[in-house]
Amino acid sequence: MQLERQADLHNLLIDTDPAAQIAYTDGDATENAILAIVESEPDLGPGSPGLSRHIKDWPTEYHFSPLRLNLLRPVKHFLRGRVLEVGGGCGALSPYIAEQADELIVVEGAVRRARICATRCRGLANTQVWATNFSCLPETETFDTVLVIGVLEYSPSFFKDGERDPFDAFLAKVRKHLAPGGRAIIAIENRFGLKYFCGAPEDHEMVQFYGIEDRYRPNQFKTFGRRELLDLLGRAGLGHTDLLLPFPDYKLPQVVLHQTAPDHPEIDLQALLLRAAAPTQSRSYQRLATEQFIWPNLAKNGLAADLANSFLVVAAPEPLPAGSGTDLVFYYTARNGKAFSKETIISRNDGGHLGVRRAPLYGDGDGGEDDGGGPPGIVWKLESEPFFAGRWYMGGLLELAKRPLCDVAAIAEWCRPWIGYLEENAVASGDDRVLPGEFIDCNPLNIVQSAEGLRFFDREWELLSKPTLSHVAFRGLHWALSSIGSLTYWSDVAGSRIIDVTQSVLTTLLPDCGPDIVDGLVEREVALQRLMGQDGDAIRTLLLTQIISARVEVQASLDSLSTLVRIEREGSQQLQELSAQMAADLFYGIPDLRVKGYVDFVMKIHCDQKVIFGWAFDPGLNKAPKYVVLVSNGKPISSALVNVLRDDVNKSLGILGSEQKLGFRIPVPCSANAKEVNQNNFRVLAFNPEFIGELKWATNS
Ligand SMILES: C[S@@+](CC[C@H](N)C(=O)[O-])C[C@H]1O[C@@H](n2cnc3c(N)ncnc32)[C@H](O)[C@@H]1O
Repeated sequence: MQLERQADLHNLLIDTDPAAQIAYTDGDATENAILAIVESEPDLGPGSPGLSRHIKDWPTEYHFSPLRLNLLRPVKHFLRGRVLEVGGGCGALSPYIAEQADELIVVEGAVRRARICATRCRGLANTQVWATNFSCLPETETFDTVLVIGVLEYSPSFFKDGERDPFDAFLAKVRKHLAPGGRAIIAIENRFGLKYFCGAPEDHEMVQFYGIEDRYRPNQFKTFGRRELLDLLGRAGLGHTDLLLPFPDYKLPQVVLHQTAPDHPEIDLQALLLRAAAPTQSRSYQRLATEQFIWPNLAKNGLAADLANSFLVVAAPEPLPAGSGTDLVFYYTARNGKAFSKETIISRNDGGHLGVRRAPLYGDGDGGEDDGGGPPGIVWKLESEPFFAGRWYMGGLLELAKRPLCDVAAIAEWCRPWIGYLEENAVASGDDRVLPGEFIDCNPLNIVQSAEGLRFFDREWELLSKPTLSHVAFRGLHWALSSIGSLTYWSDVAGSRIIDVTQSVLTTLLPDCGPDIVDGLVEREVALQRLMGQDGDAIRTLLLTQIISARVEVQASLDSLSTLVRIEREGSQQLQELSAQMAADLFYGIPDLRVKGYVDFVMKIHCDQKVIFGWAFDPGLNKAPKYVVLVSNGKPISSALVNVLRDDVNKSLGILGSEQKLGFRIPVPCSANAKEVNQNNFRVLAFNPEFIGELKWATNS
């Protein structure tokens, strides 16, 4: 290794041996754009809102999302002293590591990526970026911690050591760089991650079932299952391990569980992982099952760690310090910008009981350039509290979502005890009933049912003007319904706007909550969310348009398909009649469509013999679908229906355009116009929207 310091960027040292460079890249255009962004952005600190404003597709999300840091927060106490980051890439994690460490050396083999990383770390006196292959690092360099985040899997391509197995050789080298008492921290995908069984394409090859079926080629990346990974570490002399499970994966973690957490009888994975569905990484796919429904059942069978989507392992040659494993759950809630973002940790205390502690992610939580010093009218307080064991109230709605009879009456029945609890705590005020300010967040997600009755936890917000009962009920039910994911059966409420279902349920339960007050509640909620740091207009759109989605199997006989109507977004939006063969290509060619765009959702409209399917193709994360395809069985589609659908598409596309910031998608054409569709004798039977949008929304809430 012969490092040469760069005149224009003093923290960048490039190996003069060209053989030390590696050919990893996200592509010229992408990396040049990332470089230009980090060159021009003044705020490069961890979680920079300036950088996250540039998120527009998967690469920018990967490089700039503040969620990335959540991977290292649970192990931040290990990032002290002299730290090596192997394969630091474009420096997504480096500024955060540098903040904890005395000295950080980043080794990155791809020169342009090393330059991006060094540019991102340019103000950090304790950090150097060495552009060289890890294999060239002299063994005299030792570290308290060696980080290997998303790198081990590339060993066959970029790490050569004679005839040795590249993974064994890579990890043996990691071991050699550890100072006495040091440890390695490794993050990698699990090739048996649940998401892969649910249809997600393999993260590197982007092909379904690639890792599960062990289709790796020699000299290609490779990922491992839990036992394989721990065996590898053991062989490298790193046999003392602590395993953590980042959800939905190690790239954008929202929840990190200690490996023992899923086995704890009081810890409810359904509650923790409700919002942690696997991201799509720009490759939308049809989800074959709802992961959130599966996790608690895997946990019951001791399988959650084996099917976690990825692993974070702390591995050392000597036993790890006592006390590791007392923190069982790390839960992250991020909002727009840095303000009101928090870490919740559930840990086991000396007596074996669980406790909950909370802390802001950034400073005192009221800082951040876009915070404005704390909103008037509302108080944000993070307090520790005992862990309330019991049945999670929201779990009841998830159970309903799995039953064929999920209708307004069933939802109202489920709401009844919660609404009763609100009524018990309300007092009359003029024509209204009002609740204490801290009840603003008394929603089904924040309640457990125990022998002593309902218990309301996580009272983080207090509204200084007392909220009305109808507002608390409205927002609680609305956001609960929007968190479900997809119903597993088609039912009466499927395809309806959430706001309509909420209104029907509330009218049943609260006589003073008639249809006319809902508009007012929407605006009240928009105002509240603005106080909480959210984009009010985006919230209004969500409130008015989100629908209850259902998951159905798409069944089609190609023979029955003969007309394809394509509504183009750009251009004249003229309708084109295309051949059945094209329909066939589109329908059965779904896996190959990734070269053109990705399936965003599938819907089925059915009436008598007629079947129509639709896809929206999305060429990149958060971009509006390019076009929508409808296929019918050859019977003429009435022009009235086409107009209804086209309007729907246009409306929805407009919404998509304006909602890119929140990163959610609204299924198009949605059945907000189900009534009109019915007039045309079509009934929307089912559709399967990507519900990642709702989940993304949820993480912002
Ligand atoms: C998937 S990226 C992960 C980047 C970074 N750790 C992160 O989490 O954002 C893998 C990075 O490891 C680098 N890399 C892989 N093998 C390497 C090796 N043998 N030596 C140096 N860098 C390597 C690649 O160039 C690439 O930038």
